[in-house]
Amino acid sequence: RQALGQDGILAGQKVVVTAGGTREPLDPVRYLTNHSSGKQGTAIAQAALDAGASVTLITSASLPATIGAQIVQVEAAQDMLEAVLEHSAGASALIMAAAVADYRPATRAKQKIKKGDDDLSLSLTRNPDILLNVKDMAQRPKVVVGFAAESENLLANAQSKLMRKGLDMLVANDISATDAGFGSDNNRVVILSKDGTQRPIELTSKEQIAQTLIELVASQLG
Ligand code: CTP
Ligand code: CA
Repeated sequence: RQALGQDGILAGQKVVVTAGGTREPLDPVRYLTNHSSGKQGTAIAQAALDAGASVTLITSASLPATIGAQIVQVEAAQDMLEAVLEHSAGASALIMAAAVADYRPATRAKQKIKKGDDDLSLSLTRNPDILLNVKDMAQRPKVVVGFAAESENLLANAQSKLMRKGLDMLVANDISATDAGFGSDNNRVVILSKDGTQRPIELTSKEQIAQTLIELVASQLG
């Protein structure tokens, strides 16, 4: 681990991290979600803490405690959007590791949905894009980092997301590999920067990826 506390490379900086999949409610007892474990986001929050930053971790998952971070618990994408806009205004960095659901159930039933016919159709509606909202913030964080899990055309899709969302960096993750990614302790990524550089990181721990990312964030701030 790198230098702790006030000597760390992010001493005095405020870093906001999102982690895990959002939970999109159907009724009081059910929600739609995805396989994101929140491990990579938690590791990033820990690496930022170790580097001396003050850290806010916005999450919808039940994550292991990250000692020293401010935890903001949210459920759906819309709640996460509000929390991100509030907590990242004027921050040094925002790292969006959360797997935000693209769609939510169009209506949220007030009462538990009872079973009826053999078939039940759900109507879904698009969620807001949090990073597109961040792009237009008056007090946009200085460094904004996105994540992209792709099952094909990794670099082309990642590069277009970096541009479209106005990001400083994007961590691209090839989910067609079975030895990394969702739920795993390991990951294999390419970190793209807005200056066009691409830094591949071979299969390694999510902690190691987090530390490399935090070093890149610190160098962009410094
Ligand atoms: N993201 C977001 N708001 C959303 C969806 C995604 O801010 N409603 C963020 C994610 O946290 C991630 C980045 O955008 O950092 C890329 O997410 P991804 O799902 O790969 O991109 P999408 O724009 O949703 O495109 P698609 O799923 O269609 O590939
Ligand atoms: Ca998506």
